[in-house]
Amino acid sequence: KKKEFRQAEVNIGMVGHVDHGKTTLTKALTGIWTDTHSEELRRGITIKIGFADAEIRKCPKCGRYSTSPICPYCGAETEFERRVSFIDAPGHEALMTTMLAGASLMDGAVLVIAANEGVMPQTREHLMALQIVGNKNIVIALNKIELVDREKVLQRYNEIKEFVKGTVAENAPIIPISALHGANVDVLLAAIEEFIPTPKRDPNKPPKMLVLRSFDVNKPGTPPEKLVGGVIGGSIVQGKLKVGDEIEIRPGVPYEEHGRIKYEPITTEIVSLQAGGRFVEEAYPGGLVGVGTKLDPFLTKGDLMAGNVVGKPGKLPPVWEDLTLEVHLLERVVGTAEELKVEPIKRKEVLLLNVGTARTMGLVTGLGKDTVELKLQIPVCAEVGDRVAISRQVGSRWRLIGYGFIRE
Ligand code: GTP
Ligand code: MG
Ligand code: MG
Repeated sequence: KKKEFRQAEVNIGMVGHVDHGKTTLTKALTGIWTDTHSEELRRGITIKIGFADAEIRKCPKCGRYSTSPICPYCGAETEFERRVSFIDAPGHEALMTTMLAGASLMDGAVLVIAANEGVMPQTREHLMALQIVGNKNIVIALNKIELVDREKVLQRYNEIKEFVKGTVAENAPIIPISALHGANVDVLLAAIEEFIPTPKRDPNKPPKMLVLRSFDVNKPGTPPEKLVGGVIGGSIVQGKLKVGDEIEIRPGVPYEEHGRIKYEPITTEIVSLQAGGRFVEEAYPGGLVGVGTKLDPFLTKGDLMAGNVVGKPGKLPPVWEDLTLEVHLLERVVGTAEELKVEPIKRKEVLLLNVGTARTMGLVTGLGKDTVELKLQIPVCAEVGDRVAISRQVGSRWRLIGYGFIRE
């Protein structure tokens, strides 16, 4: 029987402190090593968001979960549950805004905590990021358990219980695993099946794709008549896209006017679609989707289109050059060991804003009782009510200090 291809139906983030084992766990679950860029290999850390898809399967004989057609525990043929896409985020503190862009695409997440180190600054900051983007479906993986003794595992369990109290992860299961040895990953998969459901989607809503990457896929020296158009990659968060669809991209492409950089929305046509690395006629929410367009590849090379929103012409949210946010500040800067107090936002300070996969700087031009007005360096395409993550430079790094909702 020919195996039909299914697209992943849910995005599951891998988040947590640097080196706690997110990429190793992604590999244990999918067989895919997502760190492929030369700098990632050289430095041994994840720098870009990685996607890796797998089928979650259940054994009808022994009841255990795996991602393999033959049960690794008893050898019986397994049954398909669903296809999922893991989004492997970087844990390094300098890459927090990359993590935030990825977080806007996650339907749920596995918070990885290494048993030898326990809860660390980016464990806190990533959990806060999930909370800020409104992600409530969380499973905690207590990793590297073979490095510590049984008492330490129990101590970490209690520390984590204390740490999640009063957060969105308060009732998240804590699964002890060893990603390196593939130990207990069946229990982790069972928890993912129970705690990270596929969101209900309405395929008839107008499509919306958040762009995370973009490329020029032509090899240098390709003759002009052989050049293919620009490719944009991201995740569909609503509706569906089809080959042949007319699309609009906002805020679009930069141009200069009277010495100022402005942005202009562009329309183009979908000439090809990839989902989970395969060519498809239609693409839906779940996993990485690549959209081949008729755009000049010059516009899409080197992730130039990251942060844009793709949809049907005239159906996209507005583009904002100035934002008014209803602001909620954190009490403390969670991403640092010292956990400094978060000072109130000041007029004329510059904040870093993450809105979906977009990041932009905002100059504070006005302050209200619970609101802040900002002039944006790069405009963003977003709905009234959308969430915005707010970071401030503390020392040499951008730190998450709060969030806001876009006001009319
Ligand atoms: P960043 O993406 O840079 O934040 O790191 P990461 O969380 O993806 O960690 P990664 O998977 O790159 O693993 C970091 C180191 O921990 C590597 O040397 C892994 O081999 C090791 N490691 C991961 N999981 C385990 C485990 O279960 N046991 C042991 N002993 N080592 C592990
Ligand atoms: Mg990694
Ligand atoms: Mg690493």
